[in-house]
Amino acid sequence: MNYHVLTLFPEMIMDGLNTSIIGRAMNKSLISLEAINIRDFATNKHMKVDDYPYGGGAGMVMQAEPVYLAYKSIEERINKKPRVIYLTPQGKVFNQSMAEDFAKEEDLVFLCGHYEGIDERVLDMIVTDNVSIGDYVLTGGELPAMVMIDSISRLVKGVLNNEDSAEYESFNNNLLEHPQYTRPEVFEGRHVPPVLLTGHHKNIEKWRREESLKRTYERRPELLKDAILDKKDIAYLNQLREADN
Ligand code: ADE
Repeated sequence: MNYHVLTLFPEMIMDGLNTSIIGRAMNKSLISLEAINIRDFATNKHMKVDDYPYGGGAGMVMQAEPVYLAYKSIEERINKKPRVIYLTPQGKVFNQSMAEDFAKEEDLVFLCGHYEGIDERVLDMIVTDNVSIGDYVLTGGELPAMVMIDSISRLVKGVLNNEDSAEYESFNNNLLEHPQYTRPEVFEGRHVPPVLLTGHHKNIEKWRREESLKRTYERRPELLKDAILDKKDIAYLNQLREADN
């Protein structure tokens, strides 16, 4: 997986993704990351990349040409037309199945806007996917690009080792993960659930499944409609619903 990020703040991208699991994946060449400074493609002597909006109004708009030239430099180098993701609050809201879909690509281009946006003409020409990371407004597309790169990368083969993959499987089968505990057995008077200390694997599995169902029911009930549930799960959920009424 090769990521190409078009941005006015390349160091933000490079510095933000060089640690932990993603940093390790880059060192192992499982993924590669380049941040391309759109300003390097300005054609005026002041290296200006924005201008006033036609029709008036507040703020500045990023000009089409430097964005287009920066994109073209990637297209020519990799010799194909990659998917180009524009980070915008007007996009489709990012989720795990979109991450799975993007993880199938060999190259992904992320276009990060700033100011009041980017001249629509270049967006029409190069963008294949408009993506938002949630219904709130950020100052630029860099953090959203980093969020997406993190979640896509952990789906690339070899990026997570077995230990990591056991973790954070919160969206497996649309159920939230059960709670976890480690030593000590008592912390500030709070005990670890006794079943976890019994070594009785069947009971532990049953407890974890029920905690997972309870969590999803309490925190994200809308996820349950797409989860695969057996008879015992359904009986347990009915019990929870009855207790609520
Ligand atoms: N740019 C500004 N806000 C954003 C958001 N919520 N998602 C993606 N890109 C953005």
